[in-house]
Amino acid sequence: MGARKLLRLFSEEGTVPLFAILTLFPDALEPYLGSSILGIAQSKGLLDVKLVDFRDFARDRHRTVDERPFGGGPGMVLRPEPLVDCIEWLEERHGRFRRLALCPGGQVLRQPLVTELASEERVLLICGRYEGFDARIRQVLEIEEVSVGDFVVAGGELPALMVLEAAARLIPGVLGDERSALEDSFAPNEDGMELLDCPHYTRPRMYRGLPVPEVLLSGDHQAIAAWRRQQALERTKNTRPDLLPGDNTISTNQALNSGSAQTPTPADTRHNAP
Ligand SMILES: C[S@@+](CC[C@H](N)C(=O)[O-])C[C@H]1O[C@@H](n2cnc3c(N)ncnc32)[C@H](O)[C@@H]1O
Repeated sequence: MGARKLLRLFSEEGTVPLFAILTLFPDALEPYLGSSILGIAQSKGLLDVKLVDFRDFARDRHRTVDERPFGGGPGMVLRPEPLVDCIEWLEERHGRFRRLALCPGGQVLRQPLVTELASEERVLLICGRYEGFDARIRQVLEIEEVSVGDFVVAGGELPALMVLEAAARLIPGVLGDERSALEDSFAPNEDGMELLDCPHYTRPRMYRGLPVPEVLLSGDHQAIAAWRRQQALERTKNTRPDLLPGDNTISTNQALNSGSAQTPTPADTRHNAP
């Protein structure tokens, strides 16, 4: 996909989900958007991504978007006018977006929000820089703040790509095999639990003295499915017990019993390398 094509702004409006990224650094995002899953999704017409440089909405000839903070202190703060003008301009053309500002203090991104975003018609991802946004932006416009984790990066661009890619891979047709997303970590299983994924193995059967677990070579689909459920549960108990329901003391047998009565689907054996 050509770079210009990615940056085509508002030339055509389809019914595909539209994600608009408001950033001061569109050139930094462009190569990633043209690569891999996001590039393919756009070239297949399954997703539309627009990069908007909100510096274009600065009101002075120096194209100023940031100022020193009132009250003193280090760093610069993003002025409200360029961003608000930019959002209003966008919405006049496309209609209302679900508006998300990337912000370390926002709600931490989790799979349920990602799933919601994948079914939205229009999503706005607003990338901050410096010390962040003037707080009045949120008083003027309804904006959700979203964090990608309890750490701080220099700008909202990488977080915005994470949100976009996480949502894009749930849009029907984007992944080669849609079962992949259903079996990923955090996808609710048949018991409604959001477990981590099980470990995966491929060729060679023996690597540096480490064999592939025998059960995966057995061809016994039911045994493989049970092994995978157990591994997923053990892994979750060990590293993310907070994902388990109730008091986190659910036993392996409980979880295995609730799943083992089910007939394994072909997906249960998707990684059974010969
Ligand atoms: C240096 S940060 C500002 C940090 C801000 N002063 C604070 O402590 O909350 C600049 C921008 O990077 C983005 N950013 C940094 N860390 C983030 C995170 N964990 N999640 C989402 N966005 C983040 C936001 O857009 C933010 O406005």
